[in-house]
Amino acid sequence: MSSSGHGRTWPLVGRAAELDDLDELLATAAGGQGVTVLLEGAAGVGKSSLVEALRGSARLLDVRLSTARASSMRPWPFALLSDALLQGASRSPLELELAGILATLYAAPTVPDDEIARVGAMFADLLRSRGASRPWALVLEDVHESDAASLDVLHELAHEGALHHALVILTMRPVPYRADLAAVVAAWTRAGARHVELRPLSSRASVELAEHLVGGDVGPSLRGTLAMAGGNPRFVTDVVRTARSTGALVTEGGVHDVSGSAWQVALDDVVRRRIYYLGSEVLELLGRASVLGTSFVMTDLALLAEEPVADCWRTLRHGLAAGVVRARGDRLVFGHDLVRSALYDGLDPDDRRALHARAAKALQEAGAPAQIVANHLDRAR
Ligand SMILES: Nc1ncnc2c1ncn2[C@@H]1O[C@H](COP(=O)(O)OP(=O)(O)OP(=O)(O)O)[C@@H](O)[C@H]1O
Ligand SMILES: [Mg+2]
Repeated sequence: MSSSGHGRTWPLVGRAAELDDLDELLATAAGGQGVTVLLEGAAGVGKSSLVEALRGSARLLDVRLSTARASSMRPWPFALLSDALLQGASRSPLELELAGILATLYAAPTVPDDEIARVGAMFADLLRSRGASRPWALVLEDVHESDAASLDVLHELAHEGALHHALVILTMRPVPYRADLAAVVAAWTRAGARHVELRPLSSRASVELAEHLVGGDVGPSLRGTLAMAGGNPRFVTDVVRTARSTGALVTEGGVHDVSGSAWQVALDDVVRRRIYYLGSEVLELLGRASVLGTSFVMTDLALLAEEPVADCWRTLRHGLAAGVVRARGDRLVFGHDLVRSALYDGLDPDDRRALHARAAKALQEAGAPAQIVANHLDRAR
């Protein structure tokens, strides 16, 4: 199976189980019973690709599929719901009426709260009634960026339970945290919504994806860099695309591999842009952590950062929620070594040396082996 959704021209890999689950839920909705799914996963883990793959099944089951993607660039009231529900060619009288009201509302300099409430109630009616003649699926993507009015409607509807004859899928990243979204998620959880957490791809699936991208077998150096992607398909595609665009990708005897290390500077740049959304405070602390290696102990980072342990936890919780680091007791592990090395390479050289000197001291005091301390001292020079 191959899809051109989101520009993807290669098959979906490693998601057979998840796709089966969604297909089954779609069939349940087609049978008349409403289902709501909260699909959560880190940036680039493949949420959109998975829901995109539902298109084929929806066609087969004759389920009408309405999709829209929220964007913080479109914060006006009901932007998400109107994109999902009011853009079709053949619109019902209620849909036409709503579209007309919204046009007036958007043209007005200010919108009174009671008007927002009235339109919200109309959207709720539309969502309730849409499945009357034919089952349907509603995919609302990136609800962490949704306009507040659309979230309010979803919140209200959660009190009534799943929409009849509908599969509703909300996709979201775990960060940024939003209190109004957390309330929607809690309300739908109480209403029996299914939580699907999309995990990183297995290393086998990551290599399979890379093989599709390069069009053949993948050599050892490229495999080494792919292993640093931590199963994130977006990072896998970044690795292959950057290798190709910088001319580092070479083919010998039918095997595709990377040569030289110069291309990694370009890759670092791409990866740093991908994690920019975490914000400067988190990135600064993670940059310091990168000096300690792929995994590190929180108290050591606190010494290095000269901050109390509790403050470090508070800052890093966003990185934890985003899956950039994972906690194992007091120890933290970078989820993708690509991210660690991009942060490390991005440090100012003088700062990096100073951080290694501080790390040597902190680790020595904490009783780390002499060799580890010596490695830091080496890099402090
Ligand atoms: N299972 C997969 N098989 C093949 N390619 C995939 C798979 N999952 C994701 N990709 C590719 O990885 C990239 C990121 O995927 P996608 O956009 O679906 O992630 P996302 O979780 O929706 O990200 P975001 O949080 O930014 O919305 C895309 O280029 C996509 O085509
Ligand atoms: Mg997406």
